Amino acid sequence: MEKYVIQGGKPLRGSVEISGAKNAAVAIIPAALMVRGVCRLENLPEISDTDTLLHILTYLGAKVNMINRTTVELDCTHVQMDTLPEDMWNLTRRIRASYYLIGAMLGRFGRARSTMPGGCNFGVRPIDQHIKGLTALGADMDVSGGFIRATAKNGRLRGTTIYLDKVSVGATINIMIAAATAEGRTVIENVAREPHIVDLANFLNSMGADVRGAGTDVIKIRGVKSLHGGAYTLIPDQIEAGTYMAAVAAAGGAVRVSNVIPKHLECISSKLREMNVEVEEGDDYVLVCRNGPLHPVNLKTMPYPGFPTDMQPQMTAVLCCAPGLSVVTEGVWNNGRFKYVGELKKMGANIAVEDQSAILQGVEKLTGAVVRACDLRAGAAVVIAGLAAEGVTKVEDVTYIERGYQDLVGKFRALGADIRCIEEPESEPVVNWNAG
Ligand code: UD1
Repeated sequence: MEKYVIQGGKPLRGSVEISGAKNAAVAIIPAALMVRGVCRLENLPEISDTDTLLHILTYLGAKVNMINRTTVELDCTHVQMDTLPEDMWNLTRRIRASYYLIGAMLGRFGRARSTMPGGCNFGVRPIDQHIKGLTALGADMDVSGGFIRATAKNGRLRGTTIYLDKVSVGATINIMIAAATAEGRTVIENVAREPHIVDLANFLNSMGADVRGAGTDVIKIRGVKSLHGGAYTLIPDQIEAGTYMAAVAAAGGAVRVSNVIPKHLECISSKLREMNVEVEEGDDYVLVCRNGPLHPVNLKTMPYPGFPTDMQPQMTAVLCCAPGLSVVTEGVWNNGRFKYVGELKKMGANIAVEDQSAILQGVEKLTGAVVRACDLRAGAAVVIAGLAAEGVTKVEDVTYIERGYQDLVGKFRALGADIRCIEEPESEPVVNWNAG
C-alpha cells in the first residue's frame, strides 16, 4: 500500500507546472463517446480518474491511442454499446464522472444503462437534477437497485427548456452532453458556471455542436445530428493550482505556479492576499510568496465564481496556523464536508465543527502524525498540513489523492519539499513516528 512520508517545515521554492483540469477531463472523455471521428485531446491530466474513463471507453469499443503522456486520440466511431457491461461496474462505481456516460450514450444511441456513480463521499450526493433534465429531454428514466436505465421515447432526445432547482455542475454537464445531439433547441436555466463547464462547451463546439452561453447562468443548445472529429486542448486545473498556492501559504517560500488561467484563480488569490500572502498575476502564471505570519480569515464556499468547495479542505489546513479565529463555512455540500478535520486535529490543529462551519483557533505549529486521506481534496489538505508541520507526517490511503493530482510527490519535491512515496503493508504497526 502506497503512503506519503513528509518531513515538514521546509519552505517551497521554484516553479510548478499545472496539469490539465481533472473535472474538465472527466466530462470531456465521456462526451467524446458522442463523436464520430477521431477526437484529439491535449493537456489531459495523468491521473487515475482519466485512466479509468479511457479504460471504460476502450472496453466499449473505442480506439484509444496515447500520443504522449498528456495527449490522446480517441475514436468512438464504431462504439455500439449503450450498456455498461458487468465487467465495468467496479469502475463506474468508483468515480463520480461515470454518470456522464449516461448523457453521452443517451445522446448518441437514445438508450443508456449504467450503475450509479461513485466518487468522493461528501455524504448524500443526489442526482435528481440529472434525472429531471434528461426526463425533460424525453428520456424514460429508471433509477433502482443501484442502476440507471434511460431510454429516449422515440429513439432521439428532444430539446426543451429546463430550469435546475439547484446549481449543479454534474447536472449541467450531463444535460449539455445529452442535448448536443437532441432534436431542436434546449435552454438550461440556473446552470453552473465553473471553468470546466465552459471548457466542455468549447470542446463540444469544436466537434460541431452549437452550445452558447456557457459561463453565464443560461446555456442554449441547438441540437445537431452528430458530432465530428477534431482537436481540443483542455484548460489548466484551477484546483490543482489553488492547492499549490495554498501549500506555499502554509509552508512559506515563493513559487511560480505556471500554466494557469489567473482569472480562474481570482477568488483563491484574493482570499490568500487577505491572509497576508503575496499573489502576483502574470499572463499564464501566478507568483505566490509568503514571508510574514498568516492572518486569520472567514471564508464560505459557493458555486463559481464563489470560493470553490474543492479548495475548502486545503484552505482549512492553511488556516490551522493563522493566529486568531477563522471560520470556514461550506455552502455547497449540505453535510459540511469536514471529515478530514479529525486528521488535522491529530496534528495539533484546534478546530471545532458546528453544522456547516469549521471554527479554527490558529495554533503556533502543527506536528507530524499518521493521518489518512479521507477523499481527494481532504488528502491534499493533510499533505499541505504535513508540509507545514514540524516533524514527520505519514499520509495513508493516497490512492484518493492520485485520482486527481498528477505526480503530486514529484511536483512538491521539485519545489524543495521533503516528501516521498513509500510502499508499505497495510497492517504494519506504526510506532513513534516523531521520535528524534
Ligand atoms: C462536482 C465536482 C466536485 C465538486 C462539485 C461542486 C466533478 C467530477 N466533481 O461534483 O469535485 O465538489 O462539483 O463544485 O466535477 N445536487 C442536488 N441534486 C443533483 C445534483 C446535485 O441536490 O441532482 C446538489 C449536491 O448535493 C450539492 C450541490 O448540488 O449540494 C452541488 O453538487 P454538484 O455541483 O452537482 O456536484 P458534482 O457535479 O457531483
